[in-house]
Amino acid sequence: WPAFVDDIDAILALKRERNAVILAHNYQTPEIFLCVADIVGDSLALARKAMRVEADVIVLAGVHFMAETAKLLNPDKTVLIPDLAAGCSLADSITPADVRLLRQRYPGVPVITYVNTSASVKAESDICCTSGNALAVVKSLSVPRVIMLPDEYLAMNISAQTKVEIIAWTGRCEVHERFTAADIRELREAHPGVTVLAHPECPPEVVAVADFAGSTAAMSDYIGRQKPARVVLMTECSMSDNVAVEHPEVEFLRPCNLCPHMKRITLANIRTALEENRHIVTIDPRVAERARWAVERMLFI
Ligand code: 13P
Ligand code: SF4
Repeated sequence: WPAFVDDIDAILALKRERNAVILAHNYQTPEIFLCVADIVGDSLALARKAMRVEADVIVLAGVHFMAETAKLLNPDKTVLIPDLAAGCSLADSITPADVRLLRQRYPGVPVITYVNTSASVKAESDICCTSGNALAVVKSLSVPRVIMLPDEYLAMNISAQTKVEIIAWTGRCEVHERFTAADIRELREAHPGVTVLAHPECPPEVVAVADFAGSTAAMSDYIGRQKPARVVLMTECSMSDNVAVEHPEVEFLRPCNLCPHMKRITLANIRTALEENRHIVTIDPRVAERARWAVERMLFI
């Protein structure tokens, strides 16, 4: 902690000087999430709140697609991402050309794009979704068949909850794909009575044996409502650290799968981002207009 104090003080002063706010995803480390962030949440909450930011500068403590979404929804603001290499295996799994090919193969079938994609992929789609609203988005279209991309496991997990036929892509989250049903069996054997919460980017075999599946915000809400005595979150490591602060009475087991992209964001590079005004997120205006429509359409639901 002492090493962090200088950066925390500097960031708090820079936020005032530059009229900046920091948006942090639930997977950010506690010194960012608890000490310097102004707005925290899952992808859906960050998108909704980014739209209403009145400050001049938004620093996105998260991954690149989140910073692009903030820029799409609040284009007059300066949006900064502290490390341009903070990507996502899902966003990297699909290109705009892939989406156009899918449209040719399935004419007339609407394309739902997970927010974990580049703006140029969003621009090729009809509507976006997050893990928090994917089922509601599918239902809102009132059609028998949809294309849902790029997360194969999210598509399979949503497919288990609806009669709508879902055509999936082959993307995977490199963090959540590593969890297995055997991991959960072993945890239950070693810790009888443990409540298991899984993110819907996990393989369907994991979701099938979990007690609950939902977005990072939904997992956090579940703990607040149900107050399980002992819980394990089948998701990125920092999530438990952050939620545990709010619920000291709950015991968290912590199998740890780290997201290397989320972990590129540090106090040091948040400070540099504010000091040097970098890295500024820009989106080609022709792409932005179509991508914004897909994100806003999701937010209207
Ligand atoms: P949510 O916070 O929307 O559940 O997303 C998880 C995730 O992997 C974001 O990168
Ligand atoms: Fe992408 Fe998975 Fe990391 Fe989220 S946790 S940013 S989905 S790689």
